[in-house]
Amino acid sequence: MSEFPKFLDLDIEKDISGRITPRDGPITLRNPHIPKLKEDVLYHLNLSDKANDLPAMFGDVKFVCFGGSPKRMEKFAQFMVGQLNEKIPAGMTLSDISHGSDRYVLYKVGPVLSVSHGMGIPSLSIVFHEVLKMLYHADCKDVKFFRLGTSGGLGLEPGTVVITDAAVDGLLRPYMEVATLGMILQHPAFLDRDLCEQLQEIGTKNQQYETVIGKTMCTYDFYEGQARLDGAFCDFTEEDKMAFLKRIHDRGVLNIEMESLCFAAMAHRAAVKSAIICCTIVDRLKSDQITASHETLEEWQERPQKIVAKFIRKQLGIE
Ligand code: URA
Repeated sequence: MSEFPKFLDLDIEKDISGRITPRDGPITLRNPHIPKLKEDVLYHLNLSDKANDLPAMFGDVKFVCFGGSPKRMEKFAQFMVGQLNEKIPAGMTLSDISHGSDRYVLYKVGPVLSVSHGMGIPSLSIVFHEVLKMLYHADCKDVKFFRLGTSGGLGLEPGTVVITDAAVDGLLRPYMEVATLGMILQHPAFLDRDLCEQLQEIGTKNQQYETVIGKTMCTYDFYEGQARLDGAFCDFTEEDKMAFLKRIHDRGVLNIEMESLCFAAMAHRAAVKSAIICCTIVDRLKSDQITASHETLEEWQERPQKIVAKFIRKQLGIE
């Protein structure tokens, strides 16, 4: 037997740089094992393809909006009820479809799903796998994915909206590394430029804040990983921190957060059209700490939500 595992070379169109062109059409899985399962239990969503009629529940989904916090994604779902003119029958309320699991929240408003992904790559990766499988079992078609988040900006007024055109890791490498069967696999994190520009066009119509497109650095840690001096540990100087932040800024990094690399890599691998749109809540060239008031933070966090809501309304011909 060979010492190295054999990885399946699954049929998928790539250009010579290895880039998979995102496409409309049915959600497909690059996993030959799934169709052979007797039951596919989506454990963290508390759903299964046998116990639930997934095509009836989710077959009309066209937009999946992810965000870190369960509360924020509940509020986004409530907001989308008004945006899509959905009528909730008297005496009923929106409810969390995955409530039995208490790991993530999942709301559906017409063709829109609002899903929380928690903090960091491991948490996002789990829910991304399960949502993608759920949409596959539901026979969904022409689905777009969005991550609506918060981030630390570089040289930007806090409250600026950043749309990511490339996600990079803490070493500025544009792929997510995953230790798989004892080896490091590198999954490229390409994003759809066309979708970025459509979102930017909507964002720039709002004169109260800037909407910019650029690189996002994704780290595995909020403190030392993002060159903060205010964690429980720190072994570098203020000068080292500033030199690093200025260096990455000069290389086109506009913001730093903790999920974009995984989101872009998984969406790219699934060939789904996707975008990452984050507000900045601090200018990291000026401060490590986030000191804006709760009300201000709420308003900033609504900016990406409003841009994506407008995009969805346009796609659905509501405006
Ligand atoms: N999220 C991050 O990961 N970093 C920040 O500085 C702000 C939000």
